[in-house]
Amino acid sequence: MELKQQIEQWAEEVRQSEFHSPEEVEQFRIVWMGRKGRIKDLMAAFKEAPNEEKRDLGKLINEFKQLVEGRVAQGVQLAESAADEQKDAEFDWTRPEGGMPVGAHHPLSVVRREIIGILERMGFVVSEGPEIEDDWHVFSGLNFPPEHPARDMQDTFFVNRSPDMLLRTHTSSVQVREMERRDPPMRIIMPGRVFRNEAISARAHCMFHQIEGLYIDRGVSFADLKQTLLRFAQEFFGAETKIRLRPSYFPFTEPSAEVDVYWGLKTEVDKRITKGTGWLEILGCGMVDPAVLEASGIDSREYSGFAFGMGLERITMLKYQIGDLRAFFESDMRFLGQFQGQY
Ligand code: PHE
Repeated sequence: MELKQQIEQWAEEVRQSEFHSPEEVEQFRIVWMGRKGRIKDLMAAFKEAPNEEKRDLGKLINEFKQLVEGRVAQGVQLAESAADEQKDAEFDWTRPEGGMPVGAHHPLSVVRREIIGILERMGFVVSEGPEIEDDWHVFSGLNFPPEHPARDMQDTFFVNRSPDMLLRTHTSSVQVREMERRDPPMRIIMPGRVFRNEAISARAHCMFHQIEGLYIDRGVSFADLKQTLLRFAQEFFGAETKIRLRPSYFPFTEPSAEVDVYWGLKTEVDKRITKGTGWLEILGCGMVDPAVLEASGIDSREYSGFAFGMGLERITMLKYQIGDLRAFFESDMRFLGQFQGQY
């Protein structure tokens, strides 16, 4: 066969070639471009050709070489994308990913929610007030005498050295705000953060949480207060829970009491947080002092009320047997992770 015809026939063969795997591409490359491949044969035949044909033949052979090279490059690419497609087909896109880490509610949030839930079912509604307060709402409106030690720099954080801008030391400030803006009857719970200038230890912190309660209506008595608190304690700690009220003093309630829950002395943590008595103080309370009602514009001859304020950390420590209050504020995932699933 004439060389020219041979080249045309091979060119057609190359154009028709198909590959289905990288191995087939390599096979093709060896047949055409290998050391003993057909292009080598062409070159040998070229040498033998008569001189006057060499110009045309050289051009043809060159074009053919380029055609083969292009086909091989194309084949490599095709084989690669076919391999990718194969991988995709084998990959199960519907399979769930390794799993998302499950978060946890902070134990204080869990307990706050539970306490609010119990009181809401008794008809209380939630309200909140500011953490930066003025003297009136934290002290004066609550009947604190000017020389009361709580007003001292030792106990209270003042803001910008102003005697009238401070971090509230208790959520009772929200009582004043509510009495000022509402008319009785009112039944309100006021959760929030409070601040006191105290050295940080296992039992005390400069920031902690309280939940305040306030009930004002005609004919509210101390018996209502006691029954509300007993009911609350039995819902929260269990139906057999015992409480005791000890006489106490707060400038804004009269009479005043502190309430202890009997917790027992079953564990070391029980002993530590109850100071060995088995009783733990969980809140302060009392009948709203008539002077406080009057200061907020409520007629104390017509209305009476009770108030209580409890420390959230205390109650949470008791419930979850947490021996050190600082754990609440350290963001240690080993501690917080234990509350997964608690809501
Ligand atoms: N505010 C008081 C405290 O922080 C607690 C309290 C609230 C007492 C309401 C009586 C009535 O200690």
